[in-house]
Amino acid sequence: MLAKFLIAEIIDSRLLSKYCAKSMANYSTEQSEMRNINNELQNARPFKDIPGPRALPLIGNWFRFIPYIGEYGTYIGNLTTQFRMLRDQYGDIVKLDGLIGRRTTILLFSSELCEKMYRVEGVWPIRISLESMHHYRESRRNIYDGQYGLGTSQGKAWYDFRSKINPHMMQPRAITPHVAQISQMADEFVEKMRTLRDPETLEVPGDFKNELYKWALESMGSIALDCRLGCLKSNLAADSEPQIMINCVHKMFDLMYRLDVLPSLWRLYNTRNLKKFFHVLDTLNGIAIKHIEEAELKLDETTLNNDTHNCSILQKLLRLDKQVARVMALDMLTAGIDTVIRNFRIEWHHGPLKYESRYINTLASPMRFKLIDL
Ligand code: HEM
Repeated sequence: MLAKFLIAEIIDSRLLSKYCAKSMANYSTEQSEMRNINNELQNARPFKDIPGPRALPLIGNWFRFIPYIGEYGTYIGNLTTQFRMLRDQYGDIVKLDGLIGRRTTILLFSSELCEKMYRVEGVWPIRISLESMHHYRESRRNIYDGQYGLGTSQGKAWYDFRSKINPHMMQPRAITPHVAQISQMADEFVEKMRTLRDPETLEVPGDFKNELYKWALESMGSIALDCRLGCLKSNLAADSEPQIMINCVHKMFDLMYRLDVLPSLWRLYNTRNLKKFFHVLDTLNGIAIKHIEEAELKLDETTLNNDTHNCSILQKLLRLDKQVARVMALDMLTAGIDTVIRNFRIEWHHGPLKYESRYINTLASPMRFKLIDL
């Protein structure tokens, strides 16, 4: 999901303006912002003027990303450094073209530009980025049945899906039935950290990252799958379902990087990485769907006209539409674990630690490897 934020792919300016025109007709709110943007668009410079590394005839820009040889290839595997270099060289908006088999990509490095991009996209946005994931979803009709969820659907299909789930997920009160459990898990995690740290140095062990993932999966699972997965139990076996799920989430992101960011021939034939990717997603989805089906069974046992006020998010979505609920739960699970932990780690290491929550404050210190007052 993070990559989607950074990589706004503008397929070409004609397609963009076609969707803008359609979307703007439906746009009823925030008209003054739109007026400002429209005024700016009048003076906008042409697409071809967007700065970026110049594509050479025939070889385009690929050579710049050749591992250890090209200027960006030196940082192979480190997308953040590659992007930082591009921003330092060309500014807050960078065009990357001449990458064989890839659409021209526009990278935005300022929140103001991102806001503008989202506004001009209107209500039917096109944000193609997770193409390997979309390919998987198209190939697994038994799971997705043509509903590709928020993660990879585009335009009207995205809008229709989003309109269905918004009332059940975007209201702050939707989270109320989950608060006590999320809070309890944070308590359990803090308790576990006490037992994990070295009594002498108060340092947490080197593989502490895996513990963070367990906590994130346990928390996300309680919302997306409406169950306790048991990730916080001590000595979780390497072949336990929760540990398999965590490994799958790691592998999934690594493979998406290899398939969607690095040069790859998966669009031409079924490459080894694509096979691995399908296997990883089948494993992750297989476990998740088992839990969703259990939630469905529980729902079938209760009468449908019960008060829905205190229902979990999954139960509300299941009452609405079982297929939408299933796809949304899988989206939450795939999008909501790695993102949270990556951002927490960045914040703990580099951020100003301005958080109010007692949990995050107590968790922040050990990430600096100096646990003093837990
Ligand atoms: C700090 C952690 C997170 C970050 C930085 C993050 C980042 C993002 C960003 C930037 C987008 C927009 C992508 C786009 O342009 O379309 C997005 C979308 C999304 N995120 Fe997250 N996310 C985080 C946590 C989560 C969690 C916990 C969940 C699970 C509930 C989640 C589920 C989703 C979904 C389903 C979408 C697609 C929304 C849509 O297209 O309507 N994310 N995320």
